[in-house]
Amino acid sequence: MSELIDPYGRRINYLRISITDRCNLRCRYCVPEGGLKCIKPRSGLLSFEEMISLTSILAEEGIERVKITGGEPLTKKSITTLINGLAAIKGIKDLSITTNGLLLADQAGLLKAAGLSRVNISLDSLDGEKYSRLTRGGDLSAVLKGLKVALEAGFDPIKINVVLMKGINDGLADLAAFLEFIKERPIHLRFIEFMTLGDGVDPEFFIPSSVIIERVRSLASLVQIESPAGGGPARYFGVKGARGTVGFISAMSDPFCAECNRIRLLATGALKTCLFTPEEIDIIGPLRNGASDEEMKRILKDVLAGKPKDRLGGQGEDFKWRMSEIGG
Ligand code: 5AD
Ligand code: SF4
Repeated sequence: MSELIDPYGRRINYLRISITDRCNLRCRYCVPEGGLKCIKPRSGLLSFEEMISLTSILAEEGIERVKITGGEPLTKKSITTLINGLAAIKGIKDLSITTNGLLLADQAGLLKAAGLSRVNISLDSLDGEKYSRLTRGGDLSAVLKGLKVALEAGFDPIKINVVLMKGINDGLADLAAFLEFIKERPIHLRFIEFMTLGDGVDPEFFIPSSVIIERVRSLASLVQIESPAGGGPARYFGVKGARGTVGFISAMSDPFCAECNRIRLLATGALKTCLFTPEEIDIIGPLRNGASDEEMKRILKDVLAGKPKDRLGGQGEDFKWRMSEIGG
Protein backbone atom coordinates (compact mmCIF):
# COMPACT_ATOMS: atom_id res chain seq x y z
CA MET A 1 0.00 0.00 0.00
CA SER A 2 1.32 3.44 -0.84
CA GLU A 3 1.06 6.68 1.05
CA LEU A 4 -0.62 9.88 -0.09
CA ILE A 5 1.74 12.74 0.68
CA ASP A 6 0.77 16.21 -0.48
CA PRO A 7 3.19 18.89 -1.71
CA TYR A 8 3.46 20.31 1.83
CA GLY A 9 4.50 16.99 3.34
CA ARG A 10 1.13 16.22 4.90
CA ARG A 11 0.21 12.55 4.94
CA ILE A 12 -3.37 12.27 3.74
CA ASN A 13 -4.98 9.24 5.39
CA TYR A 14 -8.46 10.47 6.28
CA LEU A 15 -11.44 10.55 3.93
CA ARG A 16 -14.75 12.18 4.76
CA ILE A 17 -17.63 11.10 2.57
CA SER A 18 -20.69 13.33 2.44
CA ILE A 19 -23.21 10.73 1.35
CA THR A 20 -26.15 13.13 1.01
CA ASP A 21 -26.83 16.86 1.27
CA ARG A 22 -30.34 16.20 2.62
CA CYS A 23 -31.00 16.69 6.28
CA ASN A 24 -33.95 16.28 8.60
CA LEU A 25 -32.90 19.41 10.54
CA ARG A 26 -31.95 22.96 9.63
CA CYS A 27 -29.43 23.96 12.29
CA ARG A 28 -28.92 27.69 12.53
CA TYR A 29 -25.15 27.47 12.12
CA CYS A 30 -25.41 25.25 9.08
CA VAL A 31 -28.42 26.09 6.95
CA PRO A 32 -30.02 29.48 6.19
CA GLU A 33 -33.55 30.10 7.40
CA GLY A 34 -35.24 29.38 4.09
CA GLY A 35 -33.49 26.02 3.69
CA LEU A 36 -31.33 24.98 0.77
CA LYS A 37 -31.90 23.74 -2.72
CA CYS A 38 -30.81 20.17 -3.14
CA ILE A 39 -27.81 19.46 -5.29
CA LYS A 40 -28.66 17.82 -8.57
CA PRO A 41 -25.64 16.95 -10.63
CA ARG A 42 -26.31 16.14 -14.25
CA SER A 43 -24.84 12.68 -14.07
CA GLY A 44 -26.62 11.57 -10.89
CA LEU A 45 -25.37 11.22 -7.32
CA LEU A 46 -22.95 8.53 -6.31
CA SER A 47 -24.39 5.10 -5.60
CA PHE A 48 -23.19 3.20 -2.54
CA GLU A 49 -21.31 0.82 -4.87
CA GLU A 50 -19.47 3.76 -6.37
CA MET A 51 -18.62 5.16 -2.94
CA ILE A 52 -17.22 1.78 -2.00
CA SER A 53 -15.20 1.47 -5.25
CA LEU A 54 -13.74 4.95 -4.87
CA THR A 55 -12.87 4.32 -1.23
CA SER A 56 -11.17 1.03 -2.16
CA ILE A 57 -8.97 2.86 -4.66
CA LEU A 58 -8.21 5.56 -2.09
CA ALA A 59 -7.41 2.92 0.55
CA GLU A 60 -4.84 1.36 -1.78
CA GLU A 61 -3.26 4.78 -2.01
CA GLY A 62 -3.10 5.40 1.73
CA ILE A 63 -6.52 6.29 3.15
CA GLU A 64 -6.96 4.51 6.52
CA ARG A 65 -9.82 6.33 8.20
CA VAL A 66 -13.26 7.07 6.81
CA LYS A 67 -15.96 9.32 8.23
CA ILE A 68 -19.47 9.25 6.80
CA THR A 69 -21.20 12.63 6.97
CA GLY A 70 -24.08 14.44 5.30
CA GLY A 71 -26.43 16.30 5.45
CA GLU A 72 -27.80 13.66 7.74
CA PRO A 73 -26.38 10.28 6.71
CA LEU A 74 -28.99 8.25 8.58
CA THR A 75 -31.70 9.63 6.31
CA LYS A 76 -30.27 7.38 3.58
CA LYS A 77 -32.11 4.09 3.46
CA SER A 78 -30.02 0.93 3.72
CA ILE A 79 -26.97 2.81 4.94
CA THR A 80 -25.90 -0.48 6.53
CA THR A 81 -25.12 -1.76 3.01
CA LEU A 82 -22.64 1.08 2.64
CA ILE A 83 -21.13 0.46 6.09
CA ASN A 84 -20.75 -3.24 5.32
CA GLY A 85 -18.93 -2.46 2.10
CA LEU A 86 -16.66 0.18 3.57
CA ALA A 87 -15.83 -1.90 6.66
CA ALA A 88 -14.70 -4.75 4.41
CA ILE A 89 -12.11 -2.65 2.57
CA LYS A 90 -8.58 -3.73 3.36
CA GLY A 91 -6.61 -0.95 4.99
CA ILE A 92 -9.57 0.92 6.51
CA LYS A 93 -8.86 0.85 10.24
CA ASP A 94 -11.44 3.29 11.46
CA LEU A 95 -14.94 3.86 10.11
CA SER A 96 -17.14 6.43 11.79
CA ILE A 97 -20.22 8.54 11.21
CA THR A 98 -21.34 12.02 12.17
CA THR A 99 -25.07 12.17 12.79
CA ASN A 100 -27.57 14.48 14.43
CA GLY A 101 -28.79 11.40 16.30
CA LEU A 102 -32.48 11.79 15.53
CA LEU A 103 -32.70 8.39 13.83
CA LEU A 104 -29.95 6.72 15.81
CA ALA A 105 -32.06 4.85 18.37
CA ASP A 106 -33.54 2.65 15.63
CA GLN A 107 -30.29 2.13 13.78
CA ALA A 108 -27.43 1.98 16.31
CA GLY A 109 -27.53 -1.81 16.72
CA LEU A 110 -27.62 -2.43 12.97
CA LEU A 111 -24.81 0.04 12.33
CA LYS A 112 -22.64 -1.65 14.94
CA ALA A 113 -23.34 -5.07 13.47
CA ALA A 114 -22.49 -3.76 9.98
CA GLY A 115 -19.00 -2.82 11.15
CA LEU A 116 -19.20 0.85 12.10
CA SER A 117 -16.45 1.66 14.63
CA ARG A 118 -17.58 4.97 16.09
CA VAL A 119 -20.30 7.61 16.15
CA ASN A 120 -20.14 11.38 16.59
CA ILE A 121 -23.41 13.00 17.55
CA SER A 122 -24.21 16.68 17.03
CA LEU A 123 -25.99 18.00 20.10
CA ASP A 124 -25.88 21.73 20.69
CA SER A 125 -28.02 22.14 23.77
CA LEU A 126 -29.36 19.98 26.57
CA ASP A 127 -32.34 22.26 26.97
CA GLY A 128 -35.18 20.86 24.88
CA GLU A 129 -36.59 24.21 23.88
CA LYS A 130 -33.24 25.71 23.03
CA TYR A 131 -32.29 22.60 21.08
CA SER A 132 -35.47 22.87 19.08
CA ARG A 133 -34.85 26.56 18.34
CA LEU A 134 -31.22 25.99 17.35
CA THR A 135 -32.05 23.11 15.05
CA ARG A 136 -35.35 24.66 13.88
CA GLY A 137 -37.54 21.87 15.11
CA GLY A 138 -35.35 19.04 16.43
CA ASP A 139 -36.58 16.77 19.22
CA LEU A 140 -33.98 16.55 21.99
CA SER A 141 -35.51 13.44 23.53
CA ALA A 142 -34.99 11.50 20.28
CA VAL A 143 -31.29 12.42 20.23
CA LEU A 144 -30.84 11.48 23.89
CA LYS A 145 -32.49 8.15 23.21
CA GLY A 146 -30.19 7.65 20.22
CA LEU A 147 -27.16 8.35 22.36
CA LYS A 148 -28.35 5.92 25.04
CA VAL A 149 -28.87 3.14 22.50
CA ALA A 150 -25.48 3.86 20.92
CA LEU A 151 -23.80 3.55 24.32
CA GLU A 152 -25.66 0.28 24.96
CA ALA A 153 -24.63 -1.00 21.52
CA GLY A 154 -21.02 -0.63 22.67
CA PHE A 155 -19.79 2.23 20.48
CA ASP A 156 -16.60 3.58 22.02
CA PRO A 157 -15.56 6.33 21.99
CA ILE A 158 -18.74 8.32 21.38
CA LYS A 159 -18.11 11.98 20.67
CA ILE A 160 -20.66 14.76 21.10
CA ASN A 161 -20.21 17.82 18.87
CA VAL A 162 -21.39 21.11 20.29
CA VAL A 163 -21.09 24.17 18.06
CA LEU A 164 -21.16 27.19 20.36
CA MET A 165 -22.86 30.41 19.33
CA LYS A 166 -22.40 33.61 21.30
CA GLY A 167 -25.38 34.49 23.45
CA ILE A 168 -27.24 31.38 22.36
CA ASN A 169 -25.72 28.23 23.87
CA ASP A 170 -22.41 29.45 25.32
CA GLY A 171 -23.58 30.60 28.77
CA LEU A 172 -22.29 29.22 32.06
CA ALA A 173 -25.57 27.39 32.60
CA ASP A 174 -25.32 25.75 29.15
CA LEU A 175 -21.73 24.67 29.78
CA ALA A 176 -22.52 23.47 33.31
CA ALA A 177 -25.33 21.29 31.95
CA PHE A 178 -22.90 19.66 29.51
CA LEU A 179 -20.34 19.05 32.26
CA GLU A 180 -23.02 17.50 34.42
CA PHE A 181 -24.04 15.33 31.46
CA ILE A 182 -20.59 13.72 31.14
CA LYS A 183 -20.25 13.03 34.85
CA GLU A 184 -21.80 9.58 34.58
CA ARG A 185 -21.40 9.02 30.84
CA PRO A 186 -18.10 7.93 29.26
CA ILE A 187 -18.43 10.27 26.29
CA HIS A 188 -16.19 12.86 24.69
CA LEU A 189 -17.68 16.29 24.52
CA ARG A 190 -16.24 18.64 21.89
CA PHE A 191 -16.92 22.33 21.96
CA ILE A 192 -16.53 23.49 18.36
CA GLU A 193 -15.94 27.06 17.23
CA PHE A 194 -18.72 28.33 15.05
CA MET A 195 -17.22 28.66 11.58
CA THR A 196 -18.51 31.87 10.10
CA LEU A 197 -16.94 31.91 6.67
CA GLY A 198 -19.89 30.42 4.86
CA ASP A 199 -22.94 31.68 3.11
CA GLY A 200 -25.96 32.61 5.21
CA VAL A 201 -24.19 32.39 8.60
CA ASP A 202 -23.93 35.38 10.89
CA PRO A 203 -20.42 36.20 12.19
CA GLU A 204 -21.83 38.12 15.14
CA PHE A 205 -22.44 34.78 16.89
CA PHE A 206 -18.78 33.76 16.82
CA ILE A 207 -17.13 33.06 20.17
CA PRO A 208 -13.50 31.89 20.39
CA SER A 209 -12.49 28.66 22.15
CA SER A 210 -10.16 30.61 24.44
CA VAL A 211 -13.17 32.25 26.11
CA ILE A 212 -15.01 28.94 26.37
CA ILE A 213 -12.00 27.19 27.95
CA GLU A 214 -11.88 29.88 30.62
CA ARG A 215 -15.60 29.49 31.30
CA VAL A 216 -15.26 25.72 31.54
CA ARG A 217 -12.26 26.08 33.85
CA SER A 218 -14.36 28.27 36.13
CA LEU A 219 -16.79 25.36 36.43
CA ALA A 220 -14.50 22.34 36.63
CA SER A 221 -10.89 21.35 37.00
CA LEU A 222 -9.32 20.22 33.72
CA VAL A 223 -6.23 18.10 33.02
CA GLN A 224 -4.88 17.86 29.45
CA ILE A 225 -4.97 14.28 28.11
CA GLU A 226 -4.22 12.32 24.91
CA SER A 227 -6.97 12.35 22.30
CA PRO A 228 -9.31 9.36 22.21
CA ALA A 229 -9.41 7.02 19.19
CA GLY A 230 -9.91 8.82 15.92
CA GLY A 231 -7.55 11.63 16.89
CA GLY A 232 -8.63 14.77 15.13
CA PRO A 233 -7.93 18.41 15.71
CA ALA A 234 -9.45 18.77 19.21
CA ARG A 235 -7.46 19.44 22.37
CA TYR A 236 -8.83 17.12 25.07
CA PHE A 237 -9.05 17.44 28.82
CA GLY A 238 -10.08 15.12 31.60
CA VAL A 239 -12.65 16.62 33.94
CA LYS A 240 -12.22 15.98 37.64
CA GLY A 241 -14.99 13.76 38.96
CA ALA A 242 -16.37 12.91 35.49
CA ARG A 243 -16.31 9.75 33.38
CA GLY A 244 -16.39 11.80 30.18
CA THR A 245 -13.84 14.22 28.74
CA VAL A 246 -14.05 17.61 27.12
CA GLY A 247 -12.31 18.84 23.97
CA PHE A 248 -12.05 22.11 22.10
CA ILE A 249 -11.87 22.51 18.34
CA SER A 250 -10.65 25.92 17.25
CA ALA A 251 -10.77 25.83 13.48
CA MET A 252 -11.29 29.61 13.27
CA SER A 253 -8.93 30.99 15.92
CA ASP A 254 -6.26 28.30 15.60
CA PRO A 255 -6.47 26.61 12.20
CA PHE A 256 -4.94 23.16 11.95
CA CYS A 257 -4.06 23.38 8.24
CA ALA A 258 -0.42 22.37 8.80
CA GLU A 259 -1.55 19.01 10.23
CA CYS A 260 -4.54 18.55 7.96
CA ASN A 261 -4.75 14.90 6.90
CA ARG A 262 -8.14 14.93 5.20
CA ILE A 263 -9.86 14.99 1.86
CA ARG A 264 -13.57 15.00 1.17
CA LEU A 265 -15.65 13.02 -1.25
CA LEU A 266 -18.98 14.66 -2.05
CA ALA A 267 -22.21 12.92 -3.00
CA THR A 268 -21.76 14.43 -6.45
CA GLY A 269 -18.65 12.33 -7.04
CA ALA A 270 -16.22 15.21 -6.67
CA LEU A 271 -13.21 15.35 -4.37
CA LYS A 272 -12.48 18.42 -2.32
CA THR A 273 -9.06 18.82 -0.76
CA CYS A 274 -9.98 21.58 1.68
CA LEU A 275 -13.18 22.79 3.32
CA PHE A 276 -12.31 26.31 2.22
CA THR A 277 -11.51 25.73 -1.42
CA PRO A 278 -14.20 26.23 -4.05
CA GLU A 279 -12.44 23.69 -6.21
CA GLU A 280 -14.07 20.31 -6.70
CA ILE A 281 -12.49 17.69 -8.87
CA ASP A 282 -14.71 15.15 -10.54
CA ILE A 283 -13.43 11.66 -9.91
CA ILE A 284 -16.55 9.63 -10.60
CA GLY A 285 -16.64 10.75 -14.26
CA PRO A 286 -13.39 8.96 -15.12
CA LEU A 287 -14.41 5.86 -13.13
CA ARG A 288 -17.77 5.71 -14.95
CA ASN A 289 -15.90 6.06 -18.23
CA GLY A 290 -13.83 3.02 -17.39
CA ALA A 291 -10.57 4.62 -16.22
CA SER A 292 -7.92 2.08 -15.26
CA ASP A 293 -6.42 1.86 -11.77
CA GLU A 294 -3.32 3.58 -13.08
CA GLU A 295 -5.36 6.45 -14.50
CA MET A 296 -7.29 6.79 -11.24
CA LYS A 297 -4.02 6.95 -9.32
CA ARG A 298 -2.74 9.69 -11.58
CA ILE A 299 -5.96 11.65 -11.10
CA LEU A 300 -5.65 11.33 -7.31
CA LYS A 301 -2.06 12.53 -7.40
CA ASP A 302 -3.20 15.57 -9.40
CA VAL A 303 -6.01 16.23 -6.95
CA LEU A 304 -3.63 16.18 -4.01
CA ALA A 305 -1.13 18.40 -5.76
CA GLY A 306 -3.83 21.06 -5.61
CA LYS A 307 -4.48 20.79 -1.86
CA PRO A 308 -3.99 24.34 -0.59
CA LYS A 309 -1.31 25.01 2.02
CA ASP A 310 -3.86 26.63 4.28
CA ARG A 311 -7.42 27.84 4.15
CA LEU A 312 -6.50 31.29 2.84
CA GLY A 313 -4.85 29.62 -0.10
CA GLY A 314 -8.12 27.92 -0.86
CA GLN A 315 -10.62 30.70 -0.74
CA GLY A 316 -12.15 31.85 -3.97
CA GLU A 317 -13.75 35.26 -4.12
CA ASP A 318 -17.31 34.22 -4.76
CA PHE A 319 -17.11 30.99 -2.85
CA LYS A 320 -20.40 30.04 -1.27
CA TRP A 321 -19.70 27.63 1.48
CA ARG A 322 -22.38 25.17 2.51
CA MET A 323 -21.72 22.92 5.47
CA SER A 324 -24.64 20.66 4.74
CA GLU A 325 -23.24 19.85 1.32
CA ILE A 326 -19.70 19.19 2.44
CA GLY A 327 -20.36 17.59 5.78
CA GLY A 328 -18.44 19.80 8.20
N1 5AD B 1 -19.44 25.80 12.28
C1 5AD B 1 -18.92 24.72 12.91
N2 5AD B 1 -19.34 23.47 12.69
C2 5AD B 1 -20.35 23.30 11.85
N3 5AD B 1 -21.00 22.18 11.46
C3 5AD B 1 -21.95 22.53 10.60
N4 5AD B 1 -21.96 23.87 10.41
C4 5AD B 1 -20.98 24.37 11.19
C5 5AD B 1 -20.47 25.66 11.43
N5 5AD B 1 -20.96 26.74 10.81
C6 5AD B 1 -20.60 20.86 11.91
C7 5AD B 1 -21.07 20.55 13.29
C8 5AD B 1 -22.04 19.47 13.14
C9 5AD B 1 -21.54 18.83 11.87
C10 5AD B 1 -22.59 18.08 11.13
O1 5AD B 1 -21.09 19.89 11.07
O2 5AD B 1 -20.00 20.01 14.01
O3 5AD B 1 -21.95 18.65 14.28
FE1 SF4 C 1 -28.39 18.91 9.42
FE2 SF4 C 1 -26.09 18.57 10.65
FE3 SF4 C 1 -26.50 20.78 9.23
FE4 SF4 C 1 -27.82 20.40 11.51
S1 SF4 C 1 -25.60 20.62 11.25
S2 SF4 C 1 -28.72 21.08 9.55
S3 SF4 C 1 -28.13 18.24 11.56
S4 SF4 C 1 -26.35 18.75 8.43
